[in-house]
Amino acid sequence: MSRILEPVIFRNGAQAKNRVALAAMTNGQSNVDGTLGEDELRWLEMRAKGGFGIIATCAVHVSKHGQGWPGELGIFDDAHIPGLKRVADAICEYGSLPMAQIFHGGLRADRSVSGTQPWSASDATEVGNDSGARAATGQDIEGVIADFAEAARRACKAGMAGVEIHGAHGYLLTQFLSRTENRRTDAWGGTLEKRARLMREVTRAVRAAVPEQFIVGVRLSPEDNGNARGLDLDENLQLAHWLVEDGIDFLHLSLWDYTKNTTKRPERHALQEFRAVVPQDVPIFVAGQIWTRDDGEKALALGADVIALGRSAIVNPDWPRHVTDAHWQPQRPPVTAAQLQSWGLNETFINRMRGRKDFVAG
Ligand SMILES: Cc1cc2nc3c(=O)[nH]c(=O)nc-3n(C[C@H](O)[C@H](O)[C@H](O)COP(=O)(O)O)c2cc1C
Repeated sequence: MSRILEPVIFRNGAQAKNRVALAAMTNGQSNVDGTLGEDELRWLEMRAKGGFGIIATCAVHVSKHGQGWPGELGIFDDAHIPGLKRVADAICEYGSLPMAQIFHGGLRADRSVSGTQPWSASDATEVGNDSGARAATGQDIEGVIADFAEAARRACKAGMAGVEIHGAHGYLLTQFLSRTENRRTDAWGGTLEKRARLMREVTRAVRAAVPEQFIVGVRLSPEDNGNARGLDLDENLQLAHWLVEDGIDFLHLSLWDYTKNTTKRPERHALQEFRAVVPQDVPIFVAGQIWTRDDGEKALALGADVIALGRSAIVNPDWPRHVTDAHWQPQRPPVTAAQLQSWGLNETFINRMRGRKDFVAG
């Protein structure tokens, strides 16, 4: 049997039935007020039915001012709990672990949906960004730490198995960590200790807000990629070590292409680097261009414990069911809008995918 189908055990005893996770994917299928949309539920439920052992929601905003996109599922108010509970129940029904990806956009929050001026570590003009974001006050920072903790409490109350703190891709927590996007000179900027402080305090506050059996993980971008800027591999390795001390149950590396080695040390793969500092009982998730069973097995052989699928899960909603068949070839883009619809994407989501090169045919 492929290792992909073996269970994963977290250090708090929680168990996933296999090593395939649905990566968090923002899809715009929920309501204006952040409550659950029926299409969002259907899209997630279809992947649980398709055999994914772990299902992450889209990035769900922990504060209204952190919302990144229209139609994003929210977790900033108790009014969101019933919808989140429907998601959790539907996923658990198929024996998968539901996890909410908790997030704040920082200077990439969208003012047109959040209704407020975005804020981040530093004023946007200082870091060459045109969002009009202001520098966070001490009160903003304390407030957002509490918001992350409250979001985790809500996820737990809704019956989720865990949360993934979104520390990747250049959103609020990455902006504070960044050498270039954080120009602060107070206790939240400057040395790595100070730039990493927000991510760590959020992690500790989340950990303290939920019972031990509840899974808490962090997603990181190990090096610069797209909007994730000002990052350094060695700083992230130190951060991973600290996050383990702070109580994470898993670390998720967002690589975009798992076949590539690191930029800083081209002879080394990020999984080898992180595996060396993260203890064996803390599973490492990895995402980025995992399409085939062979890809999945290679990623596991490099040191990952769980493979997280993004685009291949969009076009192969039952990917894990095919792992037993060595000859199976996954569907790959371009695919038609009608196919996407049959795989649980509504018109809004399909339109988002039209924005990605060569994904939607015609
Ligand atoms: C439509 C779409 C939406 C995404 N939204 C999120 C998100 O909300 N949070 C996140 O951490 N990553 C997000 N990602 C990145 C994926 O989780 C994943 O890391 C990335 O797509 C690489 O994996 P893949 O090659 O299997 O697609 C998104 C990707 C896609 C394609």
